[in-house]
Amino acid sequence: MKILVIGAGGREHALVWKLSQSPLVKKIFAAPGNSGMARLAEGLPIPAHKTVELADFADSNGIDLTVVGPEGPLVHGIVDYFKERRLTIFGPTKGAARLEGSKAFSKQLMEKCGVPTARFGIFSDLTEALAHLEKCSIPVVVKADGLAAGKGAVVAHTREEAIYALTSMLKDKTFGEAGSKVVIEEYLSGEEVSVLAVVDGNHLILLEPSQDHKRALDGDQGPNTGGMGAYSPVPMVTPQMMGQIRGKIFEPVVRGIAEQGSPFQGILYAGLMLTADGPKVLEFNVRFGDPETQVLLPRLKSDLAELLLAAAQGRLQEVRPVWDTRAAACVVLASQGYPGKYDMGREITGFKDIEDLPETLLFHAGTKREGERWITVGGRVFSAVGLGDTLEAALERAYVVAEKIQFEGKHFRRDIGARALKGVKSTR
Ligand code: AMP
Ligand code: GLY
Repeated sequence: MKILVIGAGGREHALVWKLSQSPLVKKIFAAPGNSGMARLAEGLPIPAHKTVELADFADSNGIDLTVVGPEGPLVHGIVDYFKERRLTIFGPTKGAARLEGSKAFSKQLMEKCGVPTARFGIFSDLTEALAHLEKCSIPVVVKADGLAAGKGAVVAHTREEAIYALTSMLKDKTFGEAGSKVVIEEYLSGEEVSVLAVVDGNHLILLEPSQDHKRALDGDQGPNTGGMGAYSPVPMVTPQMMGQIRGKIFEPVVRGIAEQGSPFQGILYAGLMLTADGPKVLEFNVRFGDPETQVLLPRLKSDLAELLLAAAQGRLQEVRPVWDTRAAACVVLASQGYPGKYDMGREITGFKDIEDLPETLLFHAGTKREGERWITVGGRVFSAVGLGDTLEAALERAYVVAEKIQFEGKHFRRDIGARALKGVKSTR
């Protein structure tokens, strides 16, 4: 089988790494990919948004399966276009990708299907939004409807902050069209976890739970980022809770969106808050999480290519993933300044020092090879991953890699997994 992976980050490196282990897979291409995955996948100079060029490539090179990493191409309809051309692709159509592409659509579908989520209102008029805000308790959450590169959700701890967020979205159009509609929602407190499912239109398989660390600094301080680290499994998520998440969240949504004429095929990712009233949905994404994928795939013992192909062909009932019981932890190494304007072009060293470390992996994101040198070219530069019999052991290994890889301005969180370790200890 020949596979095309679309995207360029740590998530895509992890996908390529796992797919390359499949006996079904003969060759992998990545568009555009990154230098770190070059040994496993041939990079193509086609950016992820060039739908027609990607389909032309898949068509003329006999690609058997295309796997889409980022949300942008999905929300813009890459799957619809590939399907028109009878090319096999893993991911939701434009209609189904509205679950991520429009927060208003997603909230309305959840309401219709009785899925537990924060109470909300949807507004495109500033005066109405401000009037509604007066009735809300603080903190309150303001979200731009459309894609906003992870920056569209504002947790406002004062009324002034909420007014500012609403004004900048609806009046000043800081997010452009994406903010021309907003969701104002109830603030939920609890532990945040990510649960992803592989879906084939009808059937679904939940993957193991993981927890991301979205804030830039230790102790969940600082600005939101694309994710600074993750671990899996999550001790707070019990098997009984996974049953509830399946029955009360995933099944109704997969059924509901199919009934609307847009069956969902691909990865459905639920960002959940474990509240005192049970798990509630903060948001849906329609693709693999980054950095969640970097801890999920090292724990997947069975064949990823077989799983994704079965989903793309609507026969998910034929496969069953097998999981490693070990824990995996990922520490993201970021450039100075990230998530704001960040440094680039710093030389990276230390690769030799990690070559022989057991049960570790290094996924590249913002790196580039220039002759014999490696340099930084992005905000999130690497995902350092460790596996272990316990979460402590996995973290220890990930942190050895995080320390040994060097570049000027490198920063990473030192408290990945700390909440789980604390939680586990207090229940002993
Ligand atoms: P979203 O883009 O919807 O995932 O929101 C980004 C982040 O904002 C989430 O990961 C949460 O940490 C936080 N957040 C979103 N919605 C809520 C909510 N209703 N209550 C509390 N925190 C929230
Ligand atoms: N880890 C958050 C995301 O992938 O959206």
